[in-house]
Amino acid sequence: MNAPTASLAGVDIRAEIERLRKERNAIILAHYYQRPEIQDLADYVGDSLELSRKAQETDADVIAFCGVRFMAETAKILSPDKTVILPDMDAGCSLEDSCPPDQFKAFREAHPDHIALTYINCSTEVKALSDIIVTSSSAEKILSQIPLSQKIIFGPDKHLGGYLQRKLGREMLLWPGVCIVHEAFSETELIKLKAQHPGAPVAAHPECPAHIVDHADYVGSTSGILNYAKTMEGDTLIVATEPHIIHQMELAVPHKTFIGAPGADGNCNCNICPYMALNTLEKLYIALRDLKPQVHIEEGLRLQAKKSLDRMLEMASGTVGQGDLGARL
Ligand code: 13P
Ligand code: SF4
Repeated sequence: MNAPTASLAGVDIRAEIERLRKERNAIILAHYYQRPEIQDLADYVGDSLELSRKAQETDADVIAFCGVRFMAETAKILSPDKTVILPDMDAGCSLEDSCPPDQFKAFREAHPDHIALTYINCSTEVKALSDIIVTSSSAEKILSQIPLSQKIIFGPDKHLGGYLQRKLGREMLLWPGVCIVHEAFSETELIKLKAQHPGAPVAAHPECPAHIVDHADYVGSTSGILNYAKTMEGDTLIVATEPHIIHQMELAVPHKTFIGAPGADGNCNCNICPYMALNTLEKLYIALRDLKPQVHIEEGLRLQAKKSLDRMLEMASGTVGQGDLGARL
């Protein structure tokens, strides 16, 4: 995938991205887990929910999505008239891989009295098979709007689902998927790190297993963790999520110290998301130049997937009451 760089000798990649961004009327959206050099030139850096909203609202003609494939597909579902490009189409997600649509469909059919509340980290096909999509920043708010009598399948992240169950005291049928990045944190090494930094709080993403979340002073989405880093009282934070988010923390509060939580070898670098890391400045330049790789979604599938995403966007803004919800499902 790095082969194109060989023909880029002499090209000022940053200047070309600037030129093409204007020429194409493109917006560059980047997730917090992207490489710092991509975050630095993006028009907007955000979490999954914020990026979905930006994709829906933009009046740009081209959305250059620097994130993973399900995020770029979400942008296309919400903004079908835009050209959506992703620097590397191989940027997948272990949660998406854990939930093949045919198996998810069979699971749904085996539980006809359950609705499917589904994490946005899944394929467009699984979104089309779901009732409501959630992100980590909206899941709690959305779940608390669903009547207690309603049975729920939650997929594909069993750790986020387990966290919501514990926090809201609500049983759900959990799909057994995991994020390989958050799964790799080591409790033993985290305890050692905490001992080396007495008093430093731990912030964890709810994709972490319970044995990591149990050590956290704050649990939340990437934007929630970033906000905690800015507002917490101390000057050192242990960060149990993908370490590229530390770039935004260092920009926002440069006087504070941020330490990535370790994996089993004691080194936090094993928690870099291999899918997010596929996107590079060179590939972003080529994508803007050639308008490919481009996201295409069959219209019937897109409309079906959009229903569950629209419910997320409405419920995350608090505009749907419980009565409305009963009528909509
Ligand atoms: P959020 O940015 O919504 O917290 O999601 C994290 C993530 O895993 C993206 O893949
Ligand atoms: Fe998927 Fe985990 Fe990477 Fe996010 S960090 S894209 S959940 S593998």
